[in-house]
Amino acid sequence: MVKASLSPASERTLYILGAGAIGSLWAAYGYQAGADIRLILRDQNTLGHYRQHGGIRLISANQTWLCPIPADCPESISTPIQHLLITTKAQQTLDALRCIKSHIATQAVMVLLQNGLGIVEQIRREFPRATVLQGSTTEACYQQNRFEYVHAGRGHTFIGSTENDQRTVLLELAESLSFPPLQLSVSDNIDAVLWRKLAINCVINPLTVIHRCRNGELLNSSERRAQIQQIVNEILALSSVLGRSEWVANLYELVTEVATTTAANRSSMLQDVEAGRDTEIDAITGYVCQLAEQHNTPAPMNKQLLDDIKRLPKVTRC
Ligand SMILES: NC(=O)c1ccc[n+]([C@@H]2O[C@H](COP(=O)([O-])OP(=O)(O)OC[C@H]3O[C@@H](n4cnc5c(N)ncnc54)[C@H](OP(=O)(O)O)[C@@H]3O)[C@@H](O)[C@H]2O)c1
Repeated sequence: MVKASLSPASERTLYILGAGAIGSLWAAYGYQAGADIRLILRDQNTLGHYRQHGGIRLISANQTWLCPIPADCPESISTPIQHLLITTKAQQTLDALRCIKSHIATQAVMVLLQNGLGIVEQIRREFPRATVLQGSTTEACYQQNRFEYVHAGRGHTFIGSTENDQRTVLLELAESLSFPPLQLSVSDNIDAVLWRKLAINCVINPLTVIHRCRNGELLNSSERRAQIQQIVNEILALSSVLGRSEWVANLYELVTEVATTTAANRSSMLQDVEAGRDTEIDAITGYVCQLAEQHNTPAPMNKQLLDDIKRLPKVTRC
C-alpha cells in the first residue's frame, strides 16, 4: 500500500482541478487561510480570462473577497502534483485528469470531492500507485458570474477511505483542508456517507428535472410523492441485496427532509439540463441501474429516469 504524507514543505502545494463552485470555494477559503494553492484551469484561454478578472471572487454572508489565487492550465504546470483536490463534475473527471496526467506524481494523494459513484475505481485504475480518497460535502455554492461564486449554504464535509491504513493521511488531510469556515471530518464509513448521498440524489435530481421544479415542489402532489416512494423502494431493495440496508434505513424521511430544507433550490441536475450541459446522471442513477442489473434487482423507475434524462438535448459547444 502506498504510504503518503503531506509533510515535506516543498511538496505542500495543493492543486485544485475543477475550479467551479466547490473547487473555488475551497480555493478561496484556502487562499484566505494562507494555504499554498494553485488552480488548474481548462486551457490557456481560460487562464487568460481568469488573469484579466484578477482571481476568484467569493461572496459570503454579505462580504465579498477577490482572491488572486495562482493558477495554471495543463501546459503551464511546472512542478509535479503531489496533492490534488478534484472537484470537477463526475462525468468530466477522467478527461480532466488525463489532460494533466504527465504532471501527476506517481504516489500523489488525490481527494475526489464530488457527487456520484463509480469514478474513484476508474481513477485508481489509471493511477494505480496514487492514494485516492473520497469526500462528500453538504456545503452549497453557486456561480453568479464567471469566476464569481456565492457561498449559499453552510454544511459539513466528510472524507474517508476503505483502506484502513490510510487513517494517518486522512487525519492530516482533514486538518489541512479545513479552511475556516469549511470543516472536514474523517468518516469511519465513507461508503455509507456516499451511498446515502447517492440515494438522495437519485430521487431529487432526476425528479426535479422531469417536473422542471424546485426541490420543495417535489412534495406538492400525491403523484410526485408516489414517485419518490417508488425510487426509494427500488434503492432499498438494492441496498438490501448489497447488505447496505442500515445505511439508508430512513431514506424516504431523509429525502423529505432534504427537499424541505432546500425547498427553494433548483437541483444541480436541473440547472445543468436548463443550460444544455451534460449531467451527472450516469454517476448517480446510472450507477444504481448498473448495480441493479448486476444483482438482478428490478429498478424500472430508475431505468426510465436514466433513459429520459439521457435523451434530453444538449447544447453543442465549439
Ligand atoms: N455546487 C454545490 O453546491 C455542490 C454541493 C455538493 C456537491 N457538489 C458536487 O461537487 C461537484 C462539483 O460541483 P460544482 O457545482 O462545483 O460544479 P461546477 O461549478 O460545474 O465545477 C466544475 C468545474 O470543473 C471544470 N472542469 C471541467 N473539465 C475540466 C478540465 N478538463 N480541466 C479543467 N477544469 C475542468 C469546469 O470548468 P468549465 O466551467 O470550463 O467547464 C468547472 O469549473 C459535483 O459532483 C457536484 O454534484 C456541488
